[in-house]
Amino acid sequence: MEIVVRTIDPCRDPLDCLILPLFSDGELPQAAAAVDQAGSGFLKQLMQQGDFRADCGQTLTLYHAPGVQAARLMLVGLGKSTKISDLNYQKALLAVGRALADRGVTQAALFGLELAVPQRDPAALAEIAVQAIADGQYRFDHHKAPAETPRRELQTLTLAVDDRLAPQGEAILAAATAARITSEATAWARDLANEPGNICTPTWLAEQAQTMAASRAIEADILGPAQMEALGMQLLLGVAQGSRQEPRLIVLHYRGGEKDAAPLVLVGKGLTFDAGGISLKPADKMDEMKYDMCGGATALAAIRAAADLKLPLNLTVVVPASENLPDGKATKPGDIHKSMQGLTVEIINTDAEGRLILADALTYARRFKPAAIIDMATLTGACIIALGHQTAAVLGTDEALVQDLLAAGRQSLDRAWELPLFEVYQEQLKSPFADLSNVGGRPAGTITAACFLSRFVEDIPWAHLDIAGVAWKSGEHKGATGRPVPLLVEYLRRRAGHPR
Ligand code: BES
Ligand code: MN
Ligand code: ZN
Repeated sequence: MEIVVRTIDPCRDPLDCLILPLFSDGELPQAAAAVDQAGSGFLKQLMQQGDFRADCGQTLTLYHAPGVQAARLMLVGLGKSTKISDLNYQKALLAVGRALADRGVTQAALFGLELAVPQRDPAALAEIAVQAIADGQYRFDHHKAPAETPRRELQTLTLAVDDRLAPQGEAILAAATAARITSEATAWARDLANEPGNICTPTWLAEQAQTMAASRAIEADILGPAQMEALGMQLLLGVAQGSRQEPRLIVLHYRGGEKDAAPLVLVGKGLTFDAGGISLKPADKMDEMKYDMCGGATALAAIRAAADLKLPLNLTVVVPASENLPDGKATKPGDIHKSMQGLTVEIINTDAEGRLILADALTYARRFKPAAIIDMATLTGACIIALGHQTAAVLGTDEALVQDLLAAGRQSLDRAWELPLFEVYQEQLKSPFADLSNVGGRPAGTITAACFLSRFVEDIPWAHLDIAGVAWKSGEHKGATGRPVPLLVEYLRRRAGHPR
């Protein structure tokens, strides 16, 4: 999707599709008023008749509208002007993205960047619009028989500015371009995650990472079982031992910062299918456990975006990738494995495997002497109970890091909320036979999982994002969401001091 910013006369320009946001109450926004006037009040009439109420997210596409040269006029409702918010704006533009995709529109111009949305200037609105439209355009259908008429995607999105906004044109273009790069990385994370477990194996995921890195300033290093053995990664190998697919440790480096500046390390859970192992999961929705590699996919997407944005920072990504299956060779409840770091773990429940593969990956990450480590994982069902599908959980040892992630989540509308990592919860991880148990019982499941991870990062500033609730959707719009790529890229841009 190419992005253009220019001044446009909504009535005279022979556009393919004009997108006009409207409120359900009050005055018509600028461009809409001009169109309405040129067409003898037809917009007002449509609204008075109730054909188009401009409820938030409602769209109506008109052809040969009176008074305009554009082939299509796409009206989109923003709801009440008194209730306008960034969230409503996002919801409306998501609907626009879907409506454009349904109609196969290839060129569109969006009006309304001047609208007064609390806390969001025109550049910020452009960012939200680009990401929401890209989200609405997203499809994962390459396993289906090709449609009779090939699908057309939006090729050019023109952001219309008036004379008053024109001086901000450069800032708007920069913001929209960053949003486009973020959206492309997000769509790639969704593609990786939506791929089923018989395709997306640890080996395949590592190959995708290598291919992505090869066309960018990213160095890739892929470790297999022999190297894991040599490093003493018995927790990662212990999860993989029940599978016929070899595990991989995917390691990527992007060096956009000072030569000797300590890197930020992102660690992502890359469990390509989690059946639970011997502690087998119930059959209901087990297919969704192909999404258990979403943490890994979002880490890979984040470094891709960092490289494409040429952010001036050093970034390393570590993704432990494995399957978790029941088998004659699989780890059994009660087995004890020794971590790379030295601590032994009694595996009470083989379904608490994410923390095991992450533990060895976190220990491995320490060798890069990171300025900070952030990990992302679809780690606990308990996180969905605590925060639902709207909000990711953040827990960490470094208050400033946690606050920065929360702020990045607010800015990118990729929300997160902090849960406490109080020392008292560590009690729940005691084992009578090993240094640690891999489960801490039902109470505070998200917190005890993070407590387990904390034992392997020790003194490095660290934060953990439990994305079990936000990484994918069930139901009508089933599929990976790509979250928290927007949060991560926003965080990286701020950390790199990127102008916004
Ligand atoms: N990948 C799951 C967590 C999960 C479950 C995410 C459902 C999204 C939806 C993880 O490996 C797991 O199975 N966790 C267990 C831990 C428990 C055994 C302590 C869980 O949450 O039930
Ligand atoms: Mn599990
Ligand atoms: Zn899992």
